[in-house]
Amino acid sequence: MRKPIIVGNWKMNLTVPVAEKLAGDVASGYQADWADKVEVVVCPTYLQIPAMADVLSGRVGLGAQDLFWEEEGAYTGEISANMLKELGCGYVIIGHSERREYLGETNEMVGKKACAALAAGLVPIICVGESQKQREADETNEFLEKQLLAAVDSIEQADMAQVIVAYEPIWAIGSGDPASPEDAEEIASLIRETLTDKYSQAEAQQCRILYGGSAKADNIAGFIGQDNIDGALVGGASLDAKEFVGMLTSVVK
Ligand code: PGA
Repeated sequence: MRKPIIVGNWKMNLTVPVAEKLAGDVASGYQADWADKVEVVVCPTYLQIPAMADVLSGRVGLGAQDLFWEEEGAYTGEISANMLKELGCGYVIIGHSERREYLGETNEMVGKKACAALAAGLVPIICVGESQKQREADETNEFLEKQLLAAVDSIEQADMAQVIVAYEPIWAIGSGDPASPEDAEEIASLIRETLTDKYSQAEAQQCRILYGGSAKADNIAGFIGQDNIDGALVGGASLDAKEFVGMLTSVVK
């Protein structure tokens, strides 16, 4: 059984005190008896991470929004997997479409980052997703398969059960217009099939697949109800504690 997981991606938002308040509200909203039913993670900016350990009180997982693939050295501005571990992170988002678009992150870089995360014991949340243009040109499946296989190219079979894949159609991110649960399920099942072909049924069945793109409290149930969707990667709605805890409430129901 795959445990559902809701991951909040705070992106480049909030001051440290506001982030602390939000994290505290999420931690106190997350009921102790939900632990078997839903896992919850927040991913603040690097600068907010050190302030999180106390407020999250161990119940809510901590993740970063990115990392660099080398362990240390002359890589100005970058942060390694071990540095994130040291500050209590257990997860890291990798290959978000905003990084691919604005920072030129390539499939190859995403693959290296995923391996670095696993080597340090971090759970990589690997993002894939097609653009509106690709969708209109009917290139979605082919594009996603390629993007996914490049990202997992060097990941060992034994590590695959740890990996989380987030399907985030670019056109749905921040648009208020999510994919339909049925369309997202079709892609999630394609992702699982692709992983089954590359690894085995056992690994592919353990790997959690998330939907992302305008997910919120009043639409999460539709996604979670699908066979191959195990949770959500949430942007905007994760910045509002009430809305985010509302998503968790909906998942545990
Ligand atoms: P959104 O963002 O929930 O605001 O659409 C999702 C994401 O980019 O991870």
